[in-house]
Amino acid sequence: MSSELNLILLGPPGAGKGTQAARLQDDFNLPYIATGDMLREHVKNGTELGTQAKEYMDRGDLVPDDLVIEMIMEVIEEKGDDGFLLDGFPRSVPQADALGEEIERRGRRLTATLLVDAPDACVLERITGRRMCSNGHVYHVEYDPPKHDNACDQCGKPLTQRDDDKPETVKKRLATYHEQTEPLIDYYDDRGLLRRFDGTRSQGEVHDHIRAVLATLRLEERL
Ligand code: AP5
Repeated sequence: MSSELNLILLGPPGAGKGTQAARLQDDFNLPYIATGDMLREHVKNGTELGTQAKEYMDRGDLVPDDLVIEMIMEVIEEKGDDGFLLDGFPRSVPQADALGEEIERRGRRLTATLLVDAPDACVLERITGRRMCSNGHVYHVEYDPPKHDNACDQCGKPLTQRDDDKPETVKKRLATYHEQTEPLIDYYDDRGLLRRFDGTRSQGEVHDHIRAVLATLRLEERL
C-alpha cells in the first residue's frame, strides 16, 4: 500500500495553480515541480535551454515537447521518489504520454490530476494584476495585496510583473491552452484521474475543496 501523492495541477494560465501549489506543499510536504519556474530560471541564467525557450515563452507559445520532457524527467528522477506536485506539466498529449510511460516504468501511478478552472475573462484580470518576487511568492494587487507596497511579505524582495503577463501575450497563452492543453481534461477524465475545482472561488475555498478531495483519495487508498 502506498500513500505517496503523485499529483498534477492542470488549468488555464492565471487560474491559481501556483497559488494552490504553495498551500498544498505546506499541507503535504510534497516536492513541487513547476516547469514555468524552471524555464524562467534557465532564461535568467542564460543556459542553452533558456535561450531556446525564451522566444517561445515571449510569444505565448509552448516550448517544444522534447526540450521540456528531457528537463522534467531529470527532476522527477532526482526529487520525486516520495511523490510530487507537478504544475505546468504535462501541457500537451505527447507530454502526458511521456509522463505516463515514465511513471509506469518506475512501478508507480498517478494519484490525481487537479483541474483548477476559470473562464478567460477572469484569468485575464488576475494575470494583469499579478505581482511576484524573485523567490516566486505571488500576490495580486487587488485580491491578495502585499502588506507593504511593492515588497514581498515573506522575503522583502521587490515585486515585479512577469515578462509574459502583458495582455496580448496572455491572450496568446490562453489560445495555446485551449488548443494544446485542454485536450488533457478528457485524457485524464477517461482514465478516471480528473478532479475538478472551481477556480473562480476564493483562494481559501479552492484550497479547502482540494484538501477535502485529497483526504478522501488517501482514505480510499487505505481501504
Ligand atoms: P507557467 O509559468 O506554467 O504559466 P501558466 O500555466 O500560464 O500559469 P500561470 O503561472 O500564469 O498561472 P497560475 O495558474 O499559476 O496562477 P497564479 O496562482 O499565479 O508557464 C509559462 C510559459 O512557460 C508557458 O507559456 C510556456 O511558454 C512555458 N512552459 C511552461 N511549462 C511548459 C510545458 N510543460 N511545455 C511547454 N512549455 C511550457 O494566480 C494568478 C493571479 O491570480 C495571482 O496574482 C494570484 O494572486 C491571483 N489568484 C489566484 N487564485 C485566486 C483566487 N482564487 N481568487 C482571486 N485571485 C486569485
